[in-house]
Amino acid sequence: MTAQHILLGITGGVAAYKSAELVRLLVKAGHTVDVAMSESATRFVTPVTFQALSGRPVYVDLWDARPDNNMAHIELTRRADCFLIAPATADVLARLAHGHCNDLITTLAAARTCPLAVAPAMNKQMWDNPPNQRNIAQLRADGVTVFGPGHGEQACGEVGDGRMLEPEQLFDLLTGLTQAKTLAGRRVLLTAGPTF
Ligand SMILES: Cc1cc2nc3c(=O)[nH]c(=O)nc-3n(C[C@H](O)[C@H](O)[C@H](O)COP(=O)(O)O)c2cc1C
Repeated sequence: MTAQHILLGITGGVAAYKSAELVRLLVKAGHTVDVAMSESATRFVTPVTFQALSGRPVYVDLWDARPDNNMAHIELTRRADCFLIAPATADVLARLAHGHCNDLITTLAAARTCPLAVAPAMNKQMWDNPPNQRNIAQLRADGVTVFGPGHGEQACGEVGDGRMLEPEQLFDLLTGLTQAKTLAGRRVLLTAGPTF
């Protein structure tokens, strides 16, 4: 797979620690990873961890003055081939489904031109909660790719749907998504048999 520029959004769920491994896998495979975190996500894992693993600055604040034009929400999406939010909390799914732009991650999603994928991560009651199911259906209808969630033991001690997929699974799914984008619009000649 050709090297891609991945924008990874991390929101405030326990599974945020798994995204550190995802960044490591992506960087090891030769991809460039820009990380944007919600304020809540920084309570679970520090930006320093993601900065060390990605080798790039990490953004949390919509008002971050580091980009030359002071618009991180534009700069980060301009160079991204794909935007993955993992973990995606119930709250960010609700904000995305309603087009909110009240923090860096939701504003990045609204301003992007690249595909958006989300990897929900939450307790099973939160996953099954009717508003959450409505938000997921709306996001799918809007063309957002939903990775998972998985089924199994949860941080709260319950067993059910809502676990974030494992970093290796997300890596494979993301690779498939960016490859599909790379090939979109290309004409491909398939031969079945030898040429003489
Ligand atoms: C200890 C703890 C764990 C949490 N885990 C999750 C979670 O796994 N999934 C989720 O959707 N929300 C979880 N929450 C709630 C979110 O952190 C909360 O809704 C927050 O506002 C999300 O903000 P964000 O989407 O901007 O990151 C948790 C909260 C706490 C205090």
